[in-house]
Amino acid sequence: MKGIILAGGSATRLYPLSKAISKQIMPVYDKPMIYYPLSTLMLAGLNEVLIISTPRDLPVFKELLGTGENLGMKFEYIVQNKPNGLAEAFLLGADFLKGDSACLILGDNLFYGQGFSSMLKRAAAIEKGACVFGYYVKDPREYGVVEFDTNGNVLSLEEKPRKPKSNYAIPGLYFYDNTVVDKAKNLAPSHRGELEITDLNRLYLQEKSLKVELFGRGFAWLDTGNCDSLLEASNFVETIQKRQGFYISCIEEIAWRNKWITDQQLKKIGNDLQKTAYGKYIQELIVQ
Ligand code: DAU
Repeated sequence: MKGIILAGGSATRLYPLSKAISKQIMPVYDKPMIYYPLSTLMLAGLNEVLIISTPRDLPVFKELLGTGENLGMKFEYIVQNKPNGLAEAFLLGADFLKGDSACLILGDNLFYGQGFSSMLKRAAAIEKGACVFGYYVKDPREYGVVEFDTNGNVLSLEEKPRKPKSNYAIPGLYFYDNTVVDKAKNLAPSHRGELEITDLNRLYLQEKSLKVELFGRGFAWLDTGNCDSLLEASNFVETIQKRQGFYISCIEEIAWRNKWITDQQLKKIGNDLQKTAYGKYIQELIVQ
């Protein structure tokens, strides 16, 4: 399986910040937003990742993340000229995937909670079908919404329904088998002119091969869509990091724990960044 991060689109709710800089580059507390979805893919064990963004922003991601070699990973990049919808990621990513299965994550989605790594590894092992997630929210109208019957079977999927049939929103993290590119090719643009991820998921539902795993109450799925939620996400990361001393989404730490880089490589990264708290944290990992 390979990973795809979709980090384009416009971020009008963050105007005027987003006029100057890509949303997914903005810091969530002490690191660029894209580190959070990238770390999710890494925790799923995926070390080949395609980053998709706008013509304006893609060069910034390339400069930030490079080839991925310093993390023992491989990054590729491709432009999305217009925000034609989340499912377009699979048309743009077809050459990168080369028939492999895929995990798509949105560049502004932040996940944190106990048991997450094992959940991700289970989903990444999928050979047939798709796996998405459900998360109870107070107001699901801004999201894809999943409806269940009393036995927990999925009945329907709807994108931004005015009258949601449940409180379960589908976060921007999707695992698909290798039929995803062919399925995406058969999608037609929705009334808002986008290739909808919910329509893609519905194809799997029709085939009875869509699995929906629920995140529990103790789990955090944070939004970074407007200035308030961006600040709240930063405060959340700061609170956990200061209380526990463990960093959320330190990509170098995850690469090292995955054994994609050696102690020596991690040490060098820590030394290069030693003037920052982030660098000091990395240096201390080796000593432990
Ligand atoms: O966050 C989860 C939700 O993401 C899901 O529940 C919905 O089913 C899904 O449609 C999506 O809804 P959003 O309203 O959040 O989608 P939005 O158009 O805002 O795009 C999400 C991110 O993806 C945003 O950072 C911009 C980026 N994007 C979006 C589109 C449409 C792209 O990079 N390219 C695109 O073509």
